[in-house]
Amino acid sequence: MIVLKVAVFVSGRGSNLRAILDSQKLQDLISVTAVISNKIDCPAFEIAREYSINTYYLGKAEGAVQYSVLAKLLESLDIGLIVLAGFLKMIPADVIDVFRNRIINIHPALLPAFGGKGMYGMNVHRAVFNSTAKVSGATVHFVNEVYDDGEIIVQRKVDISDLTSPEQIAERVLKVEHELLPDVIEQFALNKISSDNARIEILN
Ligand code: GRF
Repeated sequence: MIVLKVAVFVSGRGSNLRAILDSQKLQDLISVTAVISNKIDCPAFEIAREYSINTYYLGKAEGAVQYSVLAKLLESLDIGLIVLAGFLKMIPADVIDVFRNRIINIHPALLPAFGGKGMYGMNVHRAVFNSTAKVSGATVHFVNEVYDDGEIIVQRKVDISDLTSPEQIAERVLKVEHELLPDVIEQFALNKISSDNARIEILN
């Protein structure tokens, strides 16, 4: 079986990165060959080093990988799937073009609600809490040129009716994220994600 080479983009803690790396079902299917971040000192880089995965610092500083050469870098690494797992910057348009339908993002709410620019991290969970919604969840979607706007691949909902703070929502949703993201990566690696009829289907 051909192993899918995956690049994971991160900006912070990296718990989703760890969930991918620890996922048993992904062991023989994928290889995370690059962890890329706009934050040179993010905890997620520590996780990558723990697993001996090459890290790339993306930015404008000297010595950083410049955004203008990102597409070339990813191609030279033979990356088949890009996973955004808590990456807070926009992916450059040329990268989206080259990797169309091969970039996925995990969002900690049920899109299209509670998404868009500025809707990340605790901002999302606070907005959900303040809305008085009784259900939240996690969404994995393809990435296009607009924040949180690409086609939805899978959503999993989470009952939050008994919770009393945004922090509790974040915790409960995160547990689901850690299952959902490896699941979608598995389906992708097995070529089971089809986007016929402008809707994404998971094939059996
Ligand atoms: C997750 O909630 C993810 O959905 C969002 O950012 C958070 C990243 O957490 N996009 P971590 O860095 O994976 O721990």
